[in-house]
Amino acid sequence: MSIQRKRQLVSASVRILIACSLVACVSAPVETRGIRLFPPSGARHEVAAASAKSASGVVVAAHPLASAAGAAMLAKGGNAIDAAIAASFVISVVRPQSTGLGGGGFLMFHDTSGGKQRVFDFRERAPAKASRGMYLDGSKKYKTINYRGRFVENPAVNGHLSVAVPGLVKGLLEVHKSLGQLELAVVMAPAIEAAEKGFEVYPTLAKEIEHRKKILEIFPASRRVFLPNGQPLRSGERLIQSDLARTLKTIMSEGEQAFYDGVIAEKIVSEMRQGGGVITRADLRAYRMVERIPVTGRYRDFRVVSMPPPSSGGAHIIEMLNMLEPFEISKMEPRGSKYLHLLSEVMRRAFADRAKEMGDADFVDVPLAKLTSKSHARELMKTFNEGRASKSSDFGDMSSPAESPSTTHISVIDRWGNAVSTTQTINYSFGSCVVADGTGIVLNDEMDDFTTMPGAQNVFGLVTGKKNDVEPGKRPLSSMSPTMIFDEDGRLQLVVGSPGGPRIINATLQTIVNALDFKMPLLEAVHATRIHHQWTPDVLSFESNSLDADVKQILTGLGHKLTPIETIGDVQAAQRLSDGSVVGVSDSRGEGKPAVP
Ligand code: DON
Repeated sequence: MSIQRKRQLVSASVRILIACSLVACVSAPVETRGIRLFPPSGARHEVAAASAKSASGVVVAAHPLASAAGAAMLAKGGNAIDAAIAASFVISVVRPQSTGLGGGGFLMFHDTSGGKQRVFDFRERAPAKASRGMYLDGSKKYKTINYRGRFVENPAVNGHLSVAVPGLVKGLLEVHKSLGQLELAVVMAPAIEAAEKGFEVYPTLAKEIEHRKKILEIFPASRRVFLPNGQPLRSGERLIQSDLARTLKTIMSEGEQAFYDGVIAEKIVSEMRQGGGVITRADLRAYRMVERIPVTGRYRDFRVVSMPPPSSGGAHIIEMLNMLEPFEISKMEPRGSKYLHLLSEVMRRAFADRAKEMGDADFVDVPLAKLTSKSHARELMKTFNEGRASKSSDFGDMSSPAESPSTTHISVIDRWGNAVSTTQTINYSFGSCVVADGTGIVLNDEMDDFTTMPGAQNVFGLVTGKKNDVEPGKRPLSSMSPTMIFDEDGRLQLVVGSPGGPRIINATLQTIVNALDFKMPLLEAVHATRIHHQWTPDVLSFESNSLDADVKQILTGLGHKLTPIETIGDVQAAQRLSDGSVVGVSDSRGEGKPAVP
């Protein structure tokens, strides 16, 4: 490492330490080198705990137990896949509000020996009996479902009909089988232990049980796990998941077949039958993971590799970087009005394309080459006006719903330089809120990522079009954006991703621009304040207390409708430094912590 780089790192750490001592005693935002870090009012742990550096690999996940399990695999001689799969299984136990065996996801693997990236799609699929209009009643409104005398509103988000065929177990096991080095029993052991012995309920988990309790308490198996004695589990109590531990052991000994065509499948199908769901044994049996071709782009001197459809994230990150490229971003102020106006206009344009053009490319035509081309970016930016915000108000002006702390991202780099970037989810907080009786598995509500009613917003305020209509076997459009950045010589620079529904795309984009253009050390790149625009509703969201009054005034004057929100994303990122060591950073917006072997 050059002396200059070392100095930069040391001075950055000193700045952060100073920042952290401030975190403890003030509620104002913390500033370093003119970059305002994420406001401490929303931070769940101190910024100092958010970074870890090592010469032998790093695992970055949204719960310390998951990162520790991944790092333990690296210490045992496992590779990035072993670490990522171990961390994935643990996170599925300790973040039941975010992800789990009843969900799905995407995983990117960088194989340092071949210099290639492979992407795996284990996104959920619509069951065979699913159809357009399945959630609407005769007057084209969302149906209300009567579940044993309890009424469930919005069946695309809550209850059995919202569940798509899960892909996570297939994905994790198949990827591990072909690319892992350690035995599956070793990789799954930490998750089994976490389910069996339990872990302490942390504030976000308690808050989410409280938030979803009205739906969770309707379903007996969910009630037993998350509202024992009829009361929501509280922070500091222990969550033991014996059924889930048994399910994990069955998967460990019998493989994914148990989930898709064995004892677990039987329990899932029986849960569906008694709750009015439509997933059958044939749906589970027919589930396939798909290896896809990554979507790639160039940004300045870098190569960007990300997730193709059914994710929209990769294409739109590249599209937005293409729109930003002609501008001298590095000369702009990272939280000044000039940059934030440009950024929000870029976001607005990309999200408009998302609504029109995106869907599962196995079912509909997605013009990926056009969307990721420099010429398309130039065309879109012809209407960019430095002195005025464009308008998306023709499409309604609705308030932006709060971000739910569901979904999760894991970034890993091992000692050999292999890397994994994976984002996994059950969609909204606690997914469908249905636990399949006898399994401990929280089932997803990924069906809400489809267009369930023409023109209507989904739970994240997103509007999608016909290309994202429900069809049997189709995968709903996703924003999950596991991404990696390489330099001109193909050397890995950055592994990054986030939860946050549509905010995933923008949180990932801003971390990349912070690192590549503003040259922020990773800790700052992750903690610098973020904005979000998703075309419709036509509002520019910003993290409360993080923008100066004059900047807000200028943006409002340009025509932006500013809305403060608590947080945007929960980035988990890893970076390779020039001396060959790696650094991992967990976002202090969440409760993650990186771990090293
Ligand atoms: O795939 C998607 O885009 C959504 N199901 C992700 C949901 C999510 O990130 C929830 N977040 N906080």
